[in-house]
Amino acid sequence: MCGIFGCILKDGDAAPLMHAALKRLEYRGYDSVGEATLNNGQLYLKKDRGKIDEVHKVRNLDDLPGSIGIGHTRWATHGAPLEVNAHPHVDCRGQIAVVHNGIIENYAELELELQNRGHNFKSKTDTEVIPHLIEEAQKNNSSLSLRDAVIEAVKRLQGSYAIAVISAREPDKIICARNESPLVIGINQNAVYFASDIPAFLPLTNKALMVDDGEIVTLSLEGVEIRKIADSRIVPREPKIIDWTPEMAVKQGYPHFMLKEIYEQPECLRNTLRLQEHYVDLMATFLDRAREVYLVACGTSYHACWAASYMFSKLAFLPTYPVIASEFIEQHGKSVNIDSTILAVSQSGETADTLASVNCARQRAATILGLTNAIGSTLTRVSRVYIGQQSGPEIGVAATKTFTSQLSVMSQLALRLAKKRGKVSQDEMDYLAERLKKLPETVETIVQTQEEKAKQIAEKYKDAKTIFFLGRGISTPTAYEGRLKLMEIAYVPAIAFAAGESKHGPISLVEPGFPVVFVCPRDETHKTVIGNIMEMKARGASIIAVIEEGDEEIKNLADDYLEVPSGIPEVLSPIPFVVPLQLVAYYMSVDRGHNPDTPRNLAKSVTVK
Ligand code: F6R
Repeated sequence: MCGIFGCILKDGDAAPLMHAALKRLEYRGYDSVGEATLNNGQLYLKKDRGKIDEVHKVRNLDDLPGSIGIGHTRWATHGAPLEVNAHPHVDCRGQIAVVHNGIIENYAELELELQNRGHNFKSKTDTEVIPHLIEEAQKNNSSLSLRDAVIEAVKRLQGSYAIAVISAREPDKIICARNESPLVIGINQNAVYFASDIPAFLPLTNKALMVDDGEIVTLSLEGVEIRKIADSRIVPREPKIIDWTPEMAVKQGYPHFMLKEIYEQPECLRNTLRLQEHYVDLMATFLDRAREVYLVACGTSYHACWAASYMFSKLAFLPTYPVIASEFIEQHGKSVNIDSTILAVSQSGETADTLASVNCARQRAATILGLTNAIGSTLTRVSRVYIGQQSGPEIGVAATKTFTSQLSVMSQLALRLAKKRGKVSQDEMDYLAERLKKLPETVETIVQTQEEKAKQIAEKYKDAKTIFFLGRGISTPTAYEGRLKLMEIAYVPAIAFAAGESKHGPISLVEPGFPVVFVCPRDETHKTVIGNIMEMKARGASIIAVIEEGDEEIKNLADDYLEVPSGIPEVLSPIPFVVPLQLVAYYMSVDRGHNPDTPRNLAKSVTVK
């Protein structure tokens, strides 16, 4: 997730206005910033790594001439946060500049093709292919307009993009295009704007045009023209009046970042399906060679590791040890060695206990692999290989979208390893890959259909003194994650157990009306889970079950239930099954009068540069 903004003004300089607008988009990314403007047929550019204020102090982002410009605030997906990787990116002659939010999946092959045609690349980003593709299109046909050259270029792209392009050859316009990344246009009498999100231009205008996938937009002072990329057909569209306050706009109308981020999960899962094969393969190779593998993390990331240990075992027959990072040194510090591999998982890449475990393991010559949402973080610098999960900044303190994305990445690793080891038949591989691809849609269905039910359940149980969360097998970590979410934002004491353990002690707490949440996929544990439900019911517990659609057996036993679509393979089940639990925790926090975005005593780790 990055933020893009640009404008064409009737009067005045674009740069100071872009600077202010990019500040309003900083919640979409903040590792680098850049702007390009056009003035008297010349392209001017400033960019650097760092937060906007830091870069502005050194470079003065307001000091660029011209009333037309494009800008970008970055959350790195490809290429570390360095000046050279900051946007805008330009073609060989420095005449065409591009800002981009999204992920170009086929950039490596396009880059090779363009290099063979003599193009000179400077960055390690996926974006840089775009200005070169546009340059190439105009080289082959010198009368091609900028708009048509952009059309030719984007037809070669696979992946997601919202792009904006300016060219010194046509200095009165900006061309934008969109596929699966957000893009909105703002208009008033004196200017036209484009942006990733409405808050960028909301103080300037409340008239907005939404751009759809597969559309290309020409912005000029004459107006806005939207066409279909496929056939250049003009699409008529009327502006909408936006009546959001600036605060609502940053949250895109959601009352809290946490709910917005729960809703962003389908998009984030789609991003995880665009990982570079090469890195997944490399990491799987390291895992394959290891004598022992530790999955090390804290909090929610630890729950992802725990669930992943079932995936590695069930799919690739690889035993792995999930370890809470704060315990790693005591537990394994003396035994970890050159044959050990540590897969450290950290959304921020900066969590002290996780980094301490990694340091200890490095000193003992172990191999460090990293999975993080923050490229450029310490974890990426100390890892032999790392994967960026590409979820964009998570502003709500309680992790939601980053958890499901971590699980998606690790399920892909497990699948890749299973393939290397020949442990899963081709038919099963194809089936699992297909189901993995469908997960964004599945999660979309869950948030859309279960929010209301989650609200009702939260309302009904909001005064509970304690709540149990139980699961079996791979659903045990899901139950623990549901419990963590509830505790940290709703401040309800909650206890999680592997359901099989409940009768070895915890069940003594149960009395009539005691709420017990069960995570119940229809996997091999289903029958035993029913047995556990019966035990709880016999003691008068109120059963809240997360079930698959059509699971009449458990539906009939439960006092309340939340449903996920049926037919989810066991190894992928934590991804959809956690979503209703996130929603219940969110609504219980709100019902109890708390702000779920800022739980007391907790803060999010941020990348320190
Ligand atoms: C819970 C939560 C924390 C983090 C933990 C690790 O909602 O957000 O438990 O998961 O602090 O943080 P990272 O993943 O940044 O290492």
